[in-house]
Amino acid sequence: MTTRDTQHRTDQDTRVTQNTEAVWNTETEKVLTKLKEYALGPMRFMNLLSCFELGIVDVLRAEGPRTAVEIAERVGGAPAAIEQLLLLPVKDEFLSQDERGRYELAGLAHPSAADLGRVLPWMDMIKVICLRQLYWLTDSVRTGTVVGLKELYGHEGTLYSATAANDDLRASWSAMMDSVTDYIDGWFFANLQVRPGARILDLAGNTGLGAVLTRKYKAEADPAVVCFDFPEKEAAALATFAAHGESERCGFIGGDVFDGVPEGFDLVLIKHFLDMFDKDNVLRILRNVHAALEPGGEVCVLVPSHPEHLADTSSVDFFPAYFLGCTMGEGGPQKVSTYAAWAREAGFEVTTAISQDVASMPPDMVPMHGIIVGRKN
Ligand SMILES: C[S@@+](CC[C@H](N)C(=O)[O-])C[C@H]1O[C@@H](n2cnc3c(N)ncnc32)[C@H](O)[C@@H]1O
Repeated sequence: MTTRDTQHRTDQDTRVTQNTEAVWNTETEKVLTKLKEYALGPMRFMNLLSCFELGIVDVLRAEGPRTAVEIAERVGGAPAAIEQLLLLPVKDEFLSQDERGRYELAGLAHPSAADLGRVLPWMDMIKVICLRQLYWLTDSVRTGTVVGLKELYGHEGTLYSATAANDDLRASWSAMMDSVTDYIDGWFFANLQVRPGARILDLAGNTGLGAVLTRKYKAEADPAVVCFDFPEKEAAALATFAAHGESERCGFIGGDVFDGVPEGFDLVLIKHFLDMFDKDNVLRILRNVHAALEPGGEVCVLVPSHPEHLADTSSVDFFPAYFLGCTMGEGGPQKVSTYAAWAREAGFEVTTAISQDVASMPPDMVPMHGIIVGRKN
């Protein structure tokens, strides 16, 4: 009797018959299939992104059905290479191929320009910022630093300091960040109460867009908004204010949040920032904000968060690797309940702790945001 026969006789839930070469029970089969999907992810990703980058999708959208030869004439490359590249999108029904060998948009005809305007910046950011740096994810986890930035750019620090000197990182990251901000702001400001004439600090406000948007969404309250970020962001922030005609009611203060938070504000916004840090640093930030506020002052946190039930979103598929290997060497989202608990630990009374309704999110959307509002009593 062979080993295989023995295995087959003893394995109750085996579904493969004795005359096949190999035998796996259903649990093993499930895991091996999942491992294959993981292994194929990066390959599928770049195959499809290349179709966009080469302009194939644009050509098919603008000009209708085209053969590989015609596509190659328009976008470059050999017709044989184009044929190879288009096998996967045809298999996955993004494209179709007719009996004359012409390709046309199939599934990809459905998403609107706005839909693709969300998806493509994400894909570009994953290519530019994640794919290469994640080669060193294991080393990043071991060292608590972004090893990929050191290896690729000679940069010792975080993605956010690396963007200052590297246009490719800055352009790709900013396009993704702007698209996320664009998408989430309606929900965020609908849940934000602002008193008339309030003085607002947009902590880690980057290049001032958040300050301008606060003025736009809360125009009736006519708040004065100051963007606080590293000093090197000042010129870009002032340019943003000028470009939006907001120089009078928007300002900039340069500094490092770990050295202290400017005083004199009624409300501190912290958007897309706490998720960059581990608990100790989140508490340092929240305590510095607490110390800077007068009693009655509030903090309002907008943060990508993991759902209470991890399988409800793709948050854990993306963010742990992103923060550990691509941007910070630490951090990663927490559940809203965890952020609320940390805000209490920092001295705040938590008055709001809500999550986005997953069902209302576009199907391509990765971050699920939470809002936590705390009051200093
Ligand atoms: C993910 S971005 C968020 C930008 C903005 N709040 C938004 O929602 O679009 C993080 C910002 O934090 C800033 N930052 C990082 N560490 C900081 C620190 N220690 N002190 C002040 N700003 C910091 C970065 O320069 C960057 O602009």
